[in-house]
This record gives sequence, C-alpha cells and structure tokens, in this order.
Amino acid sequence: MTAGRKTDKRSQLAGRRFGLAVTLFTSSYEEIVEENKHGSNRKQIWAPRWARFVDYYDLKQIRRWPKEGLPLKRVDQVAAFFGLEAQAFVDERIAERDLTNALYRAKPRVMKAGTNPIEPEYIEPTDGKTIISIPSTPPIFVGRGSDLETIRDLLTAETNGQMIAIHGWPGVGKTTFAAALANDAAVQDGFPDGIIWMPMGVGFNPITGFSTLGQRHLLDSRELRQTTSLDKAISILRDRVAGKRLLLLLDDAWEVDHVAGFRQSVGDTNALIITSRSPEIAQHLVYAPESVYRLDVFREADSMTLLKILIPAVVEENNERCIELVNALENLPLAIHVVGRMLRMESEIWPGNVKKLLDELIESISSVFQERAPHDLFDPVDGRIPTVEMLFRKSTDRLDEKTRICFAALGALAPKPATFDLRRITAAWAGIGVRDPKPAVTELANRGLLDPLKNDRFQMHALLVAHAGNLLQGL
Ligand SMILES: Nc1ncnc2c1ncn2[C@@H]1O[C@H](COP(=O)(O)OP(=O)(O)OP(=O)(O)O)[C@@H](O)[C@H]1O
Ligand SMILES: [Mg+2]
Repeated sequence: MTAGRKTDKRSQLAGRRFGLAVTLFTSSYEEIVEENKHGSNRKQIWAPRWARFVDYYDLKQIRRWPKEGLPLKRVDQVAAFFGLEAQAFVDERIAERDLTNALYRAKPRVMKAGTNPIEPEYIEPTDGKTIISIPSTPPIFVGRGSDLETIRDLLTAETNGQMIAIHGWPGVGKTTFAAALANDAAVQDGFPDGIIWMPMGVGFNPITGFSTLGQRHLLDSRELRQTTSLDKAISILRDRVAGKRLLLLLDDAWEVDHVAGFRQSVGDTNALIITSRSPEIAQHLVYAPESVYRLDVFREADSMTLLKILIPAVVEENNERCIELVNALENLPLAIHVVGRMLRMESEIWPGNVKKLLDELIESISSVFQERAPHDLFDPVDGRIPTVEMLFRKSTDRLDEKTRICFAALGALAPKPATFDLRRITAAWAGIGVRDPKPAVTELANRGLLDPLKNDRFQMHALLVAHAGNLLQGL
C-alpha cells in the first residue's frame, strides 16, 4: 500500500469518527445549527461550544468530513475539542466501542468567545456549588430537547412550592431524563442550594428514605438519619430546608403514600419532581394539572440517532430495515437499547448474520403484536411489555448455558433499585460454581444485560431483573 493511500484511509477513518463523535454529543448537526439560529437551549454547554467550533472551521467544511475524510493536519485539534488524543481518531486498532467509551468519559470543554478552540478552557459544570448526590449525565442521551425545555419552564414559573410529576411507560426513559435534568446547567442555576436525588422503587420505605436524605452531605442530619417516626422526620426535614432553594428529585414512585411525607416537607421555596410509571400517581400528587408531564416515546429520528450511536455500520447498511425495526418497537428507548446491543454483538461475532437477525426481529415483533390488540405495547394492568420481554428472551437465548444461569442468578440477588457491586455478584455465583465472575460479567455487559457503573458497581433495569427472576424460576 502506498503512503498516499494509507494517509487517505486514516483521513477517512478520522472523518467517520468525527461524525460519530458529533452524533454522540448531540443528535445531529442540523439540529444544533437550528437551535443556535433560534436561540433556544443556549444555556446548554454544547450549543455555544459547537457554535464556536463551527465559526472556526466553517460549517460547509465540517459537513464534508464524515463522508470525505478529515484532513490529517486537523486531527489533533479536532480530537482535542472532544477531549481525546489524535490517536483515537486515526488508529483503526482502537475499536469503535472504546472510542465511544472514551467520548463518554471526556469532560465537556467550554470555550470563551474569541478563544481558539484548540486550547479549550476546562470547566466543571458543578464547580463551586453544593450540588451533590445526583447521578452523572447519562452516557448516551439523545433527543428530549423540548421535554427539557418544558420542565425548565415549569421550574422557573413564578409559583411557589413547585411539584412536578413526570410519568411514562416503563423503559421510556424517565430515570434517564430525570438524571439529565439534574445535570442541566439551567436547572442547576435555578437551585443554588443544590439538587438531591433519591431512587424509590416498588418496595420503598419512607422512613428509610428520610434516613437516606439525612445521609446526604447537603442535609447531613443525624436526627433525620436516626428517627423512626414519620411525623418527626417530616418536621426535621421541613426545618432543614426552610427558606432554601433546593430541588428534590424522587425517581420511580409506586405509591402516593411513599411521596406524601416529602411533599409536606419541601415548603414553598423548594421544588419537588417525581417520576412514576403511573399517570394516576402523577395526577394525584401535583397541585395543578399543568404540572403533570407525560414523557413520550422517542420520535423516529431520535430512535435512529440512538441506533446509529450503538451500531453505526449496521444502520448505514440497513437503514430502511432499521427504520422498520424502531417503528415496530414503537420507538421505546429501552427496546431500542436492547436490539442495538443485540445487533452489535451479532455484527461483531457473525457479521454475515446481521440481515437475518434484523428480519427475524421485525418478524417476531410483528407476531407478538398480532397476538395482542394493535399498539398494545404496554399492558397497564400487569405492567408487562411483551415485545421487550421477547427481546430479552432472544438476548438471553443467545448466551451459553453457564452465562445464562449466571444471569438468572442475578434475578434473586438484585435488590430494588437493582444496583450491586462485584463482590455481591461473586458471592451469588460462587453457589453455582463460578470462581472468576469477570468473563460472565463482561459478556452480560456487552449484551446490555447488565450496566456497569463506576467503581465495580453494576445496575440492572427493573424489567431485566424481572426477566432474570423468570429464568430462575424455570431452571
Ligand atoms: N434520551 C435517551 N437517550 C438514550 N437512551 C435513553 C434515553 N432515554 C432512555 N434511554 C435508555 O432506555 C433505557 C430505559 O431508560 P430508563 O431506565 O430511564 O427508563 P424508565 O422510564 O426510567 O423505566 P422504568 O419505568 O422501568 O423505571 C435505558 O437503557 C436508557 O439508557
Ligand atoms: Mg426508571
């Protein structure tokens, strides 16, 4: 191969990776350009950053890079903009997945007007604030621009004692959206005293909840940690937060009673947001109907953006089929994640089989629908999502037997919320003769059946825990 061709290949690779990086940081170039034009979302870190980048490099040129290649002399600068080394863009030995992971970890860099994008200024978005105990920004976050705007507006409305309830189907992305809200710069600005996050879940106990809040650095109250009286807890918390401007985010409420005490405590200067699968609970909790917000499934374009992030090459080669697939899944984010991971594994191990798997998936989703009423994606009575269950089953059917048993064993172990560390996994699997848990953990994580968090901690979506539990019963 000649040096020229090699250069060309590296430039092509860098161009594609630049495209991937842009998609990962936002939904599309066009959307960002539109947003800048209309001046919305300005407070978000990305928009001004991107605007300056575009100013510097010229949009027309940038648009050509993903297709025609990124000039090699630009690679250093462009990679630095995304917080990466040039190598990540030009070295084909670095797998796309590792690049994606590195992009997730890269810190947002913000540039002052007039500065050169090559020397970005580092800022920590939460610098100098007392914001604590919120999950980090979701690693992949697409769409939801107008949802964010609506909630921001509700939060800044001139009413005191705000109480907002967000509801939506299981797996529609409530937790993810709430985490993005907690990390949103405008929301953080609105709550100078901080944002506190608390997961609830089906078996939530309010007394334990108050105690958890007492452990949060921001409230840090031994009294709150230790009291066993609900009334007392409410009054301690009320005193503690009186006159402050705090946001309390309660994720995944299953009962009105679980939330009632916190609702009484927040007073009229702070705000409370809850998420719940149930519209009834949402309506029951708010003071005004406009404070109930239904988080809907993705638009088709957002589903495709997500799929492109997960499996860019598969989407490029099978665009029409992928559109059919996301629509068959009714654009439910969880379902798209699951098929994305499944297709990713398939394309890595059996690339020749991808088209067949796509056909098979579309076919079996349609047949699940034929068994039920049309558009009956989610059964509100039993809370089941047959298509998602079918996808989980397909995904676990592809595991070898031993790993499948490992997965099933997690169904028994997972508490609610289902996060646990490697030690607990090791202990659970010791009983089924697994000495080294790492290979099975890696396999499960690669298939999206287990989500790695930081520090050897893992989490499983509630619907996956239920699936693991079903498998366990069948063993
Ligand atoms: N905006 C988004 N961008 C990318 N992925 C998303 C988005 N929203 C949700 N997802 C993905 O969809 C899956 C389900 O999301 P999430 O857990 O937030 O749903 P949920 O509504 O909280 O579900 P549940 O009712 O079971 O608690 C996750 O894998 C998440 O990563
Ligand atoms: Mg949730």
